[in-house]
Amino acid sequence: MAQVLRLLPQQQEHDPRLLVGHSTFDDAGVYELSPELALVQTVDYFTPVVDNPYDWGRIAAANALSDIYAMGATPITALNLLNFPVGSLDLAIAADVLRGGLDKIREAGAVLLGGHSVQDDEPKYGLAVTGIVDPRRIVTNAGARPGDSLVLTKPIGVGIVTTGLKRGLLSPEGAARVTELMATLNRGAAAAMTAVGASACTDVTGFGLLGHIWEMARASCAGVVIDSDTVPVLAEAWPLLEAGAVPGGSRANQRHLDEQGAVEYAGSIDDAARAILTDANTSGGLVIAVREARLGELLDLLAQHGTLARSVIGRVVADHPGRIRVI
Ligand code: CO
Ligand code: CO
Ligand code: CO
Repeated sequence: MAQVLRLLPQQQEHDPRLLVGHSTFDDAGVYELSPELALVQTVDYFTPVVDNPYDWGRIAAANALSDIYAMGATPITALNLLNFPVGSLDLAIAADVLRGGLDKIREAGAVLLGGHSVQDDEPKYGLAVTGIVDPRRIVTNAGARPGDSLVLTKPIGVGIVTTGLKRGLLSPEGAARVTELMATLNRGAAAAMTAVGASACTDVTGFGLLGHIWEMARASCAGVVIDSDTVPVLAEAWPLLEAGAVPGGSRANQRHLDEQGAVEYAGSIDDAARAILTDANTSGGLVIAVREARLGELLDLLAQHGTLARSVIGRVVADHPGRIRVI
């Protein structure tokens, strides 16, 4: 999408009500309605990641809602986007997908307004979501400051594990674990983040952990150091990686970051660790940049909300702005 948007004329960026546009690779766009109220809007949809249609619906909705949470906003309304092969697939499957989505919309405290469906040989599902936020409390990916700690709220390795699932290499317990991870809302993580006044935030999705942190580093004009030993990884990801279950998108992420000189790896970081750190995730956790003085409070709040991880994975530095060092 970023590559296509670059082809558009830029003058629309100058509207003063546009608080966050597409120029800084942020998660969602923000439009000011009044000094106290802004709209936050995002859209995300994709092909099935799991076989069970209800679970796919939950995951796609949690993933779309996540971009609202990553801005520190509250989702209020959602619209379904459904592409479906009417005629060749039972409509009950479509109903299960939408039911999964609706359950997540309700859990988020938002309201389903409607949606749109298109006849398509390959099913696709997701949501357009609108949220609200106090414009003074927006959390973008551009506010990380040297001295901040970076906290991750879900384990990574989702792309590798779901590829293993598609190839029949994953245990039923492993499949259930990764399904629940993807279907878990970032709601609690976002509540904790806004309570401590985080400096910056993004969620971990298709561009992988390092890809999204790189966007944060560039948007914030700051450097980042990631301590790879502290990054939480799904246990199943390591053997599946060994078995070659790496999605094409993850390989592309790694190539792109290498070509851009985005990441400097210490000699101790092997190929397996690089593949995990750049693995494309679906509905991953939040990466939160927080001042040292508020870090303990953030970790306590994440524990209270029962987030799947609450790991300090690195820090923001003044050195090498716009680049990541992995140690
Ligand atoms: Co995002
Ligand atoms: Co998105
Ligand atoms: Co953001």
